Amino acid sequence: MPFDLLGDRQRTHTCGELRKSHAGARVFLAGWVARRRDLGNLIFIDLRDHTGITQVVCRPEMSATAHARAEEVRPEYVLGVEGEVVLRAPETVNRQLATGEVEVVAHTILLLNEAKTPPFPIEDDSKTAEETRLRYRYLDLRRSRMQHHLRLRHRAAWVARQHLSAHGFVEIETPFLTRSTPEGARDYLVPSRLHPGHFYALPQSPQLFKQILMISGFDRYFQIVRCFRDEDFRADRQAEFTQVDIEMAFPQREVLFDIIERLMEQLFALIGAPIARPFQRLPYHEAMEKYGSDKPHLGFGLEWKRVSLPPEAQFKIQVADPIKALRVPGWSEAPRSQLDKLQEVAKSAGADWFGYARVLAGQLESPLSKVLGDEAVGALTSAAEAAPGDLVLLLGLKTASSGPAFGLPVHLARHLDEASGEVRLEVARRLNLIRPGTWNFAWVVDFPMFEFNQKEGRYQPMHHPFTSPREEDLDRLESDTAGVRARAYDLVLNGSEIGGGSIRIHRPDIQHRIFKIIGLTEEKARERFGFFLDALEYGAPPHGGIALGWDRIIALMCGETNIREVIAFPKTASGVDLMCDAPSAVEPEQLEELGLEIRRQ
Ligand code: AMO
Repeated sequence: MPFDLLGDRQRTHTCGELRKSHAGARVFLAGWVARRRDLGNLIFIDLRDHTGITQVVCRPEMSATAHARAEEVRPEYVLGVEGEVVLRAPETVNRQLATGEVEVVAHTILLLNEAKTPPFPIEDDSKTAEETRLRYRYLDLRRSRMQHHLRLRHRAAWVARQHLSAHGFVEIETPFLTRSTPEGARDYLVPSRLHPGHFYALPQSPQLFKQILMISGFDRYFQIVRCFRDEDFRADRQAEFTQVDIEMAFPQREVLFDIIERLMEQLFALIGAPIARPFQRLPYHEAMEKYGSDKPHLGFGLEWKRVSLPPEAQFKIQVADPIKALRVPGWSEAPRSQLDKLQEVAKSAGADWFGYARVLAGQLESPLSKVLGDEAVGALTSAAEAAPGDLVLLLGLKTASSGPAFGLPVHLARHLDEASGEVRLEVARRLNLIRPGTWNFAWVVDFPMFEFNQKEGRYQPMHHPFTSPREEDLDRLESDTAGVRARAYDLVLNGSEIGGGSIRIHRPDIQHRIFKIIGLTEEKARERFGFFLDALEYGAPPHGGIALGWDRIIALMCGETNIREVIAFPKTASGVDLMCDAPSAVEPEQLEELGLEIRRQ
């Protein structure tokens, strides 16, 4: 089929632009064929670009050649259409289309390219398998939903750049070919040809570079930057993802919070969502007790309480103290099947003891009454502040699995908290309490500085090892390590961690003490971070910052639960780029050049 040339023709309008007021205008549109209806002497073509669809009408009496061309076209062919805008007859007006009051009568149709039949229709409600969508991502991205998401992402980046620039932040690029950086995941390594046996690591974040920029006197830095972490994929995790990375010298936490909150306000204005400022500040311990998560969804109540079990009750049910109790208002009639499901959730999340009590007018109904007696169960429901009509859920750890009955060790208490968080979310889902379109931001603050790694028998930093301990805790770093709190904070939104940061250590003596506590010898610390330790010796100012999880923020703004939906070319859950088939094997010569040999398993 002969193709036409675009020549020097310019589009006069986009496919979503024409209205009644354009009637009589001569226009030149270009786009893809969304649909063609052939009624013999009358052919309709829906011409699509990212702005919308315009109906093109081809009649032989207007142009025999245009009509003949129209007979050849198929979906996704690329056309240029020159013609006249005419008003549609009232009965043919299409109210679903922004351009539905007009159509373009074609004088000339240019066939610019043909297309194979696409493997799925280019429509928003298409139920195509994700694998097919990713393999043909170029077609998937033609859909208006994906166009919307990536264009919103672009506008959001624009807003972020403007906002941060207006506050004196300077965008500086940091290297991708670098040394291992400390965010706790595995590194992606890149072999060096010029230095066989040596590897660059792709940055897990620009953490040390941004701290060094503070030492260099760039007192406010930001970067919209790709980070690389070889960790398990999840709906909210990709191996390469984007951060809005921010650092400032002489920081006051509240100043930084205010800058970020105003940024969020401007971002969410892009989707017409008003945001209430200032955001709630939620201490870590409170978040864990009440919501069983350090990234709680605060869009609904449902707050757990730690409740103490009297010794005789612990003995009777063989459950460790304390347990947790949750009042679910108005759910005293919860069906047994729902309670069984909650019990399953609790168990698979690690809480092996589950109980409940229905608080009815004047009486309690609970399987626990038989073992503990009504009075003890009543004490538990009162501790949960339950009223008639409520259900009380109880969660604990059996002493057989937790060890000593009195006082759960920190890591087990955390287990129980985390299980309570899962149960809370499940209750919210079952009662339909999670409302889309509401935005519940909070700063989680006062994290512990360290957590104890049971397997390795040592403390590790809860954030990264460059996070500063609170100044008032400096004296007890070594003597009360578990009790030391960090100057770290996370930003959470609707149950998702959308950012994390801290005020940093700027004094070498403190940095050395932290390395020692986490079991990093002087030698190892020098080997890994020597360049940074050197830099700290040359007048590092107090500094701190944050990194925002850009993909997560954009996904939330787009109402998506998976960040793949807001990334142009994401990887599957098993880390594969289905479109270009990466990772892939390489030529033996390439390996040879790099001094590498693949050991076959
Ligand atoms: P952190 O590791 O908490 O902090 O990362 C900051 C934010 O980045 C997002 N994020 C991810 N998003 C998608 N896929 C991933 N694999 C992924 N990992 C993290 C999260 C997270 O809150 N250098 C520090 C920041 C600092 O201290 O300033 C850092 O990287 O939304």
